[in-house]
Amino acid sequence: MNQPRMAGVPAVNPPAFVKNQKLINWVAEIAALTRPDRVYWCDGSQEEYDRLCAEMVAAGTMKKLNQAKRPNSYLANSDPSDVARVEDRTYICSAKEEDAGPTNNWMAPAEMRATLGGLFAGCMRGRTLYVVPFSMGPLGSPIAHIGVELSDSAYVAVNMRVMTRMGKAVYDVLGASGEFVPCVHTVGAPLEPGQQDVPWPCNATKYIVHYPETREIWSYGSGYGGNALLGKKCFALRIASTMGRDQGWLAEHMLILGVESPAGDKHYVAAAFPSACGKTNFAMLIPPASFKGWKVTTIGDDIAWIKPGPDGRLYAINPEAGYFGVAPGTNASTNANCMASLKSDTIFTNVALTDDGDVWWEGMTKEAPSHLIDWQGKDWTPESAKESGRKAAHPNARFTVAATQNPVLDAAWDDPAGVPLSAFIFGGRRSTTVPLVTEARSWVEGVYMAATMGSETTAAAAGQQGVVRRDPFAMLPFMGYNMSDYFQHWLNMGERIAKSGAKQPKIFCVNWFRTDENGKFIWPGFGDNMRVLKWMLARLNGTAHASENIFGLTPDFADLDWEGLGFTADQYAKITSVDQAAWQDELKLHTELFNKLSHHLPTELIQTKAVLEQRLSAL
Ligand code: OXD
Ligand code: MN
Repeated sequence: MNQPRMAGVPAVNPPAFVKNQKLINWVAEIAALTRPDRVYWCDGSQEEYDRLCAEMVAAGTMKKLNQAKRPNSYLANSDPSDVARVEDRTYICSAKEEDAGPTNNWMAPAEMRATLGGLFAGCMRGRTLYVVPFSMGPLGSPIAHIGVELSDSAYVAVNMRVMTRMGKAVYDVLGASGEFVPCVHTVGAPLEPGQQDVPWPCNATKYIVHYPETREIWSYGSGYGGNALLGKKCFALRIASTMGRDQGWLAEHMLILGVESPAGDKHYVAAAFPSACGKTNFAMLIPPASFKGWKVTTIGDDIAWIKPGPDGRLYAINPEAGYFGVAPGTNASTNANCMASLKSDTIFTNVALTDDGDVWWEGMTKEAPSHLIDWQGKDWTPESAKESGRKAAHPNARFTVAATQNPVLDAAWDDPAGVPLSAFIFGGRRSTTVPLVTEARSWVEGVYMAATMGSETTAAAAGQQGVVRRDPFAMLPFMGYNMSDYFQHWLNMGERIAKSGAKQPKIFCVNWFRTDENGKFIWPGFGDNMRVLKWMLARLNGTAHASENIFGLTPDFADLDWEGLGFTADQYAKITSVDQAAWQDELKLHTELFNKLSHHLPTELIQTKAVLEQRLSAL
């Protein structure tokens, strides 16, 4: 199957197990454009992973951690300019601008193709082009889809092996004629003959580009996270959301967890939170000691693909196979299951290095070690940090770890059929205004809550932190099409479930983040979120009380299980109060959002807002 060689273009030489001619032709086409020195077809084996990591250690991209303390684990430090998702460089290049909608950057596909054509020409010179085949979701599942990423970064290849089902088996599923989403990635740093490489090549110019009609992804200039691991945000959310719109399913920025009562009553719920709002912690929650016999198990911590099953219910899979979580703040009390997952076989990015070859980040232990090498490779001590305010780990430092290392992984996490969903939870980071928990009285009211969700921004995205921005469904940075069409899609899905005769999942809105007059969180969060989950489960079973308020149904103090927690009715009032003036301001912001999204905005949502406004003014 060898391809004829053009001058300066490496042989593609596909291995015998690759049978898909469309894939082989495409690899040849991209190699001819990008001009790598060689093409390497990943097989996903452990031997390959170890070898690529060893090569990166030799090149200075990664350090191998102390084998006794953190077996088979590595630390990579990125370039200080390449530390987060770049939303302002992310484009949805649909044929029509209105299909990208007002929340996305858009450029006409032909114009973008011309720009990228120039940038990608010869961009892999001096490097290896890795062919990375991956399945988003259990191999062969009717809910799963396949992608192939062509990248000139070995860091991407090894991270993709952890984050997806990556390797030889994917070619078997693909067969001779299977469909795949083509993803092209380059760090945008070609090497001239004899030029010394840098540990973290990248380019100041960045483009993260999606063509929804042809389901293509092109990423230029960054080696970091969602910019570079194209299965995650680019495919599993932006491209998949458009596939879901066209094919009648949902691709969501949601964790999926199982929650089981001591009596064995088990439900699965999916929960959407913006980046760095505790999704991984919630997905691995350890119930308080007083909740004997309650179990929380993880299906996924970031993304859910949800399709209607033959019985009309919604079934969800985690398209990913690993966690790319935020390290700072993770510790034995905030997330002991996560800390246990990270004991070995983990890639850390932008955390600090201890003198004995282990890792550390802010919040891992109460006391910082007396000396560290910080994420930028500089000496760091607690004293020097007090003066300079410099963090040892970048606030968006990450770990990449296989789901199978999670001690509370749900038995059905890899089930090709997915798990049935009983409820959706939506939550933003709001220091004021939004109460601890509210149950929507109807599907439409739930969609309204999700559509108008706001959250204070975090370090996961480049840009200013701590400002409230509307983040509908926690999908603002990840929507592949017009946001209002997406709201309509959710409304349609609700109707479709109702028509099938199946019970619609309940929809809840939560806020773990209200603060007191000193800026301190009032709600303990983490494991104590179980108290809210328990109430939700009882609501699903029709056994818990809720009171009507203007936005929906909320538990009274007496409706939550407080055993083992000294939390007073007074404190509860502080995190559940609905302040009329604050909500009048909040609804003004909903109006602003709706004005921005007016094109195709579903009338049901406008009506829901009008009813809320009436109720609020009648307070
Ligand atoms: C993530 C994010 O990396 O949402 O999951 O930023
Ligand atoms: Mn995320």
